[in-house]
This record gives sequence, C-alpha cells and structure tokens, in this order.
Amino acid sequence: MTLDMSREITLEFVRVTEAAALKASRWLGKGDKNSADKAATDAMRGMLDLVNINGTVVIGEGEKDEAPMLYIGEHVGGGGIRDPQVDIAVDPLDGTTLTSKGLPGAISVLAAGNKGTLKSIPTFYCEKIAVGPAAKGCIDINDSIKNNLKRVAKAYDFKIGELIAVILDRPRHAKLIEQVRETGARVKLISDGDVAGAISCAMHGSGNNILLGTGGSPEAVLAAAALKCLGGDMQVKMWPRDEAEKKKVAKLGLKKKDLEEVFTAEDLCSGDSIIFTATGVTGGDFLDAVLYQGDTATTHSVVMRARTQTVRYVKAVHQLRTKTVPSRSESREVGI
Ligand code: FBP
Repeated sequence: MTLDMSREITLEFVRVTEAAALKASRWLGKGDKNSADKAATDAMRGMLDLVNINGTVVIGEGEKDEAPMLYIGEHVGGGGIRDPQVDIAVDPLDGTTLTSKGLPGAISVLAAGNKGTLKSIPTFYCEKIAVGPAAKGCIDINDSIKNNLKRVAKAYDFKIGELIAVILDRPRHAKLIEQVRETGARVKLISDGDVAGAISCAMHGSGNNILLGTGGSPEAVLAAAALKCLGGDMQVKMWPRDEAEKKKVAKLGLKKKDLEEVFTAEDLCSGDSIIFTATGVTGGDFLDAVLYQGDTATTHSVVMRARTQTVRYVKAVHQLRTKTVPSRSESREVGI
C-alpha cells in the first residue's frame, strides 16, 4: 500500500504531533529549551512506533551521532510488510527558545510522503520565499524584493503598503528588512519559528502575505510540505553559512552553479502523497497553544493532504487521569 491510499494514517500522524506538543508545553517558560525539545522528541518518537508505516526519517534531529532519536536514516513506525514505505520529516519542536520563554509561535510538525518524495537540503540554512495560494506563481527568488512584493500585492489586489512580510529577526536580515520597508510594505519580525511563519502566509485570517529570508533547511522542507497541501508557493536556495560549509558541500560534489539551483515546494516534496500535520505548542497565527486546565489538556492541530488539499483543524481534549504516551527513552507509557 502507498501512503496516499491510506487516509486513516493521516489522523494517526496528528496524534504524533499532539503528543510532542503536550510534552513540550510542560516546559513552557522554564528557560530550558533543550529539555522542551527532548520531551517533544521522546514523545514523537514513541508515538511513531504506534503508526502502521515503514517509515524512514529523512529530515530529523540531525545525524545519528548527534541525535539519539529521530536521526536521519532511522526507521520509525510499527508497520508490517504490507504497510507503506514512507519518508518522514519532523521537527518535534520548531521554536525551542519560544517555548522556553513562553512566547507565541512554537509548533510541533511532521510531514510524510511515499518513499523518495521528501528531499533534504545539504546546507544548514537556505534562502526562502513563501506565499499562499492567492500569490502562487508570483514569486521569483532571483528577482528583486521590490518586484516580488509588487507582484504579490497585485495578486492580492492590495497596495504594497497593505502587505505584511514575515521575516526572522536576525542581523543577517538587516538589508532585506530595509529593502522591504523601502517598498512601503509592512514587516512582521519573528524571533523564531519560520515554519509557522511560512504557513501563516497561506492561512486565512493571519494577515501575513509573504515569508522572506534565510532560515533552517529542514524547516524549509517542512514548510514546503504544508504549502503544497495549501496550494501555496515556495522557492528556496542553498545558503552555505561560512567557508567551512562551502568546503563541506564541495566535498559532496556540489559546484558553485548547484548552489544557485532554485528548489520549489514540488522539488522538495514531490507528488500527491504528501501529508502535513502540526500542533500548536505556545499558540500563534493559526494554531492555539496547549491548554492545561484541571484534569484536561486541550490541543489544536491542523492536518492536510496534498492530494485533496483538505485542511482539517483538530481540537482534542485529553484526559490527564487516563491518557499516557509511549516514552521512547523510558520504554514505557508515561503520563502527560
Ligand atoms: P529551533 O526550534 O531549533 O530553535 O529553531 C527555530 C528556528 O527559528 C527555525 O524556525 C528557523 O528556521 C531557524 O531557527 C533559524 O535559525 P537561526 O536561529 O540560527 O537563525
């Protein structure tokens, strides 16, 4: 069986990001981003064991020697021989610092597709430009910021000054922010979490129109999966951060011209089998935060499939007295 044939698995993936978000949220505002990330990763890894897939992590927490679980190449899922062979991309907690500070914008995310559909990018960072369906076909990462914003504004039937560009607040973006402001467009600086930032541009009611700037490459693929399901558009280009990384990519056989290659959402997440799920951890433009209240915890998730482009919001109320999640590190069920 292939993943696009199994609709039930789509909802199983929601349980995976829910568990990660529930666990991460216990660390909200505690100033300990590593523990928040570890808790999310442990729960996500444990929950994946319950999903009937033969999964391989293609985008995860890093190479095997730097990540104890959800490392690239790790087999995940409890699938038998008839279950689908699946590529998995995860970020158990996008926004570790946001969570540690109790700030909005952190989400737990997972994307999946039939084997061979998700592509990883060899550089740590990449340049990104992302828009929602209204502006599909209007972006060109090699064109000027002004021209891109002009086209996006036209697509929305906006004046440029009505647009909102989401940009990670980083010194490396000083020139970019200046260029955007010069056009008259408005800027929303986010301190972290450019997966949610990119997706928000395709979500009704967020008010955000375009994501610009350089951010993590794994996050680019996750955002591309979501934008594909939402009918949006994304382009990325590798962005080696220093000479050491340039040498590293050269060793992989990549030439200067390869670094100029533009990847679209389709290049990064090919075909119709792509599934994307996210659960809000700290709350943000399109997903509310985990809410612990008395004996319950409420989560808000979104789940979508590229094939149908249906976007489902799943609100779940978890009973804390009865609910457990499988902890991978403890090899047992633990409370949330
Ligand atoms: P973490 O959750 O791993 O801290 O990453 C958050 C994030 O803001 C991503 O959303 C973004 O792509 C990346 O970090 C940007 O990297 P940097 O903080 O190095 O600029």
